[in-house]
Amino acid sequence: MKKVKLVGTDITTSALGFGCAQLMRVSSVRLRQQLLNEAYDAGVCHFDVARMYGLGLAEAELGKFARGKRDKLVLATKFGIDLNPKGTSTARLQGMARRLIAMFPALRILARRHTGTLLAPRRYDAAKARSSLETSLRELGTDYVDLFLLHEPTLDDVTNSDVMEFLNDARSQGKIRAYGISGPIHDVVAICRNVPGLASIVQIPNDAITRDIDKLAPYANRAIITYSPFSNALKQVVDRIKIAPRISDRWSKATGKDGMPTDEIAFFLLRYCLQANPSGVVLFSTTKLERLKMLAKTVTEDSSVDSSLRSFLRYVDEEIRTPRH
Ligand SMILES: NC(=O)c1ccc[n+]([C@@H]2O[C@H](COP(=O)([O-])OP(=O)(O)OC[C@H]3O[C@@H](n4cnc5c(N)ncnc54)[C@H](OP(=O)(O)O)[C@@H]3O)[C@@H](O)[C@H]2O)c1
Repeated sequence: MKKVKLVGTDITTSALGFGCAQLMRVSSVRLRQQLLNEAYDAGVCHFDVARMYGLGLAEAELGKFARGKRDKLVLATKFGIDLNPKGTSTARLQGMARRLIAMFPALRILARRHTGTLLAPRRYDAAKARSSLETSLRELGTDYVDLFLLHEPTLDDVTNSDVMEFLNDARSQGKIRAYGISGPIHDVVAICRNVPGLASIVQIPNDAITRDIDKLAPYANRAIITYSPFSNALKQVVDRIKIAPRISDRWSKATGKDGMPTDEIAFFLLRYCLQANPSGVVLFSTTKLERLKMLAKTVTEDSSVDSSLRSFLRYVDEEIRTPRH
């Protein structure tokens, strides 16, 4: 697995990071730990979590996995979005909810709709950062986190915030190694422009369709982590290929296989993200062991895929980003 040194820090990590936002959707502790271990065995040492992932339970699950190998891992967590008391009590029913959703998958849509009602108002001040960090350290079972990120703040949230002094203190005390911001590109760009001290590490969505990372070009010289290579793009590309199959026709001719499988499209989408962020990290996630193995292989250096990746990106440009019809 390719390693990268995050700009402006002494943190070396894996080019591919595993995201834990959906980890608690996996039905058992055994399978969740197996998934994390599979990522680790494939060379992933970067794990991204947040206080509110898995309704507050994902950090503890990641902490269990980190036991005995903490110094080999780069753990990133976030603060600012947290559960309200109703969210905290609902979290205790998660095991039962998972079993119900496994039996009746349509319930997942209801569960997602419900999530907004379980969250407290967002806060990014020093007091919130302090209490959230203490909770994260306890849940993760560690005395430091590598990256401590503000979770989706707007410019207004941070303009007059006292948080930076706390973050610098926490870094001096060794409780965090580095800090930064995460969230949608327009908020991240606004903070890069107006409160640059908070944004020396930025975590943004990026995929082959939106190519949000291009919007950071004026704000170079900072560590970039991107997320969501598939969640927006995969379905759009799959759907487009159904009505404009020229790329899958070419692929079929070259490989002798019928149609272009979704896994192959996912491979190109991930490959694009890695190429677009060569000195940073690309976060992905899956709840499926087999997919994880397949995706982790994507990062092995293989320049022979470059020309097919270029064709894929040209297709995305012509058929999805700027379609002529
Ligand atoms: N503000 C922030 O900082 C922020 C925001 C969003 C996300 N993140 C981080 O980034 C991580 C990744 O984000 P994301 O969940 O949006 O990730 P993603 O990797 O873009 O999408 C994951 C989804 O893609 C599906 N998938 C993956 N490979 C597939 C394939 N070959 N065929 C079909 N479906 C496939 C997975 O389904 P299966 O599970 O069925 O495989 C899963 O539902 C999160 O876990 C989180 O850690 C951070």
